[in-house]
Amino acid sequence: MTEEKLKELLSSMTVEEKIGQLVQLTGDFFIDEGIATGPMEWLSINEDQVKCTGSILSTVGAKKLKDLQDRYMAINPHHIPLIFMADVINGYRTVFPIPLGQGCTFNPELVEEMASVAAKESARAGIHVTFSPMVDLVRDARWGRVMESTGEDVYLNARMSSAAVKGYQGSSIGDKDKISACIKHFAAYGAPVAGRDYNQVELSERTLKEEYLPAYKAGVDAGARMVMTSFNTLGKLPCTANEDLMKKTLREEWGFDGVLISDWAAIKELVFHSVAENDEEAAYLGIKAGVDIDMVTNVYINNLKKLIDEGRVPMQWLDDCAYRVLAYKNELGLFENPYKDADEDYDGKVDSEHMAFARKAAPESFVLLKNEGMLPIPTKATNDCGSVAFIGPYMNETNICGSWTIFNNNDDNITLEQALKERNPEISYVIEPGCKTLAAGQHFVGFQSKFDNPLTEAEQESMMEKAVKAASEADRVVMAIGEFNQMTGEGASRTEITIPEHQLELFRRVAMVNDNIIVVNFSGRPLDIREINKKAKAILQVWYPGTVAGYAVMDVLFGDAAPSGRLSMSFPYNVGQVPVYYSELHTGRYAEDPENRFTSKYMDAPNDPLFVFGYGLDYTDYEYSNLRISSNTISENSPIKVSVDVKNVGWRDGKEVVQLYIQDMVGSVARPLRQLKAFDKVDIKAGETKTIDFTITTDMLKFYDVNMNYVAEPGEFKVYVGRDSKASLCESFRL
Ligand code: NOJ
Repeated sequence: MTEEKLKELLSSMTVEEKIGQLVQLTGDFFIDEGIATGPMEWLSINEDQVKCTGSILSTVGAKKLKDLQDRYMAINPHHIPLIFMADVINGYRTVFPIPLGQGCTFNPELVEEMASVAAKESARAGIHVTFSPMVDLVRDARWGRVMESTGEDVYLNARMSSAAVKGYQGSSIGDKDKISACIKHFAAYGAPVAGRDYNQVELSERTLKEEYLPAYKAGVDAGARMVMTSFNTLGKLPCTANEDLMKKTLREEWGFDGVLISDWAAIKELVFHSVAENDEEAAYLGIKAGVDIDMVTNVYINNLKKLIDEGRVPMQWLDDCAYRVLAYKNELGLFENPYKDADEDYDGKVDSEHMAFARKAAPESFVLLKNEGMLPIPTKATNDCGSVAFIGPYMNETNICGSWTIFNNNDDNITLEQALKERNPEISYVIEPGCKTLAAGQHFVGFQSKFDNPLTEAEQESMMEKAVKAASEADRVVMAIGEFNQMTGEGASRTEITIPEHQLELFRRVAMVNDNIIVVNFSGRPLDIREINKKAKAILQVWYPGTVAGYAVMDVLFGDAAPSGRLSMSFPYNVGQVPVYYSELHTGRYAEDPENRFTSKYMDAPNDPLFVFGYGLDYTDYEYSNLRISSNTISENSPIKVSVDVKNVGWRDGKEVVQLYIQDMVGSVARPLRQLKAFDKVDIKAGETKTIDFTITTDMLKFYDVNMNYVAEPGEFKVYVGRDSKASLCESFRL
């Protein structure tokens, strides 16, 4: 539709119809026989209002949505199509590793491809918009939603944000098999005080701008057509009512002209935040901040008309919001084809090519934290290591996709046990889970449903005994353990970030009878794994790998694939250190001298995390040498070239993540110890040496100075290149 026609459409709409475009409901309102009365009563809205709804969330399925669209368009006064939105977070039917794992790939092209596959599958299921990527910077592992982010680092997050947007949207959201991305949660939702979900956020303006905002901006720069506001307050003002953030930063400074949606009921929550006296006031604050769509409440629908009639809300505000939603529909091509790519023949089927891709992709998210000659497991064909006992509840757990996968089919999920049996490796092995992911009798309130483990203590004990016996008779033990998948995600904050106690007990008992333990750890956050680290000889962190988890884990355990992930978030030594991250400030008392009480340190724990950002082993090893820079001075027009030689000194080909960090030695405000500024994931063959080049520009040295100007200040800088955030090869230069 032309812009002119779109404007004509807007001007022919009644106020109620325009308000309707700003309302998002769930599919429950539209049942086969028409409009359902139940949800209407619950929301205190009437049938005429439902007929003007602008969009629907969380309903999927090609046939269902085509049918819904037909019925809706027949009753909508101007026959305007609905937009269908859904949370496709790490895949639709083919589920990929959780976003935190995707961050560990350090492979933006791979992340783009995963998003592109997710776009195709969801587009064919009738979805037009996904509420992804979540790009909140995360540094506190107590917060359950760290699993939805790509991690603690400013630069890595920004790269991944942009990659995901490109993958979902391609060059246009109207193209076949493309959907709109939605950057969330704007802003700083990832920094709740004490890691408690929905809690307040307190950040200095400098930290917000320098560390938290770049990933949102990168998504907007990559062309994201939707942004979602966050639940939290920022400096005591709820973001959903923060005009400065929404209008000045997002729209004026960043030029975002897409649609701004509230998070679930976030406008109504302005009342609970105590900044609005009632729903009417909340509606006023929401639209004043420029929030276009109210997600699933009646706040806009029941209050905007009155506010307009009374002249408090100018008609122009409503017109602007409604026009943006209509323009969005137009960009999606819905006026010409309201079903877009919905395809009953494709939807509902497993796409074997996508599954094969997921199997190849997942090992790139696995982080090998420790390996004392245990992995890969040799078979009889190579170097028989004797018998292996496969123990732990994740051997036959089917919840292996993370808590945000609501549309996949659990029956597609390949468990470790299934993959092991299919592989039938040339070793002698037994499988004894030993317990379930939840403890005997445990009741767990999950993300979308409740879970119970019906086992009695006695039954669990008997399972454990069998597992311990199997461990005592085996030469090696693989222990697949970890957090129950619903222990992370929304509303899943924890104060103890450990493996569940009953699983730890199993681990301890196994460790008493067998020294050769390989732990395969499933979790949605970095955990305190000190005890495991002491007793296990190998630790493979696999997060939640997705639909083909079993195949991917077995591929890595038996060496068909190597783990090439590097930590996108530090693994704390213990929860007391949290938030712990590599790019901290030096402080005035940095040295960890045990003889000097008055330094910035803990009495009972080191300052360093157990495993640092960027860390991860491979099945081969690398040597770095010959770091050189093209000049010892840099200026705006003369960037510096940095080169390093990386040799694969091991016995097999590998994928190394070469990381470049910069430290600004002196600034007008305190500068971080170092910051990731570039990385390159490269294939290096056994015995091969590759020269990796990077370019440092003055843009990479910029920060908010003492006067809040974004500048690079003259002075000395150090550049470190290496395998992780402790990289020690160093050169220096001056600006
Ligand atoms: C609430 C969550 O915070 C957000 O991430 C999600 O997209 C919406 N619900 C919609 O389900």
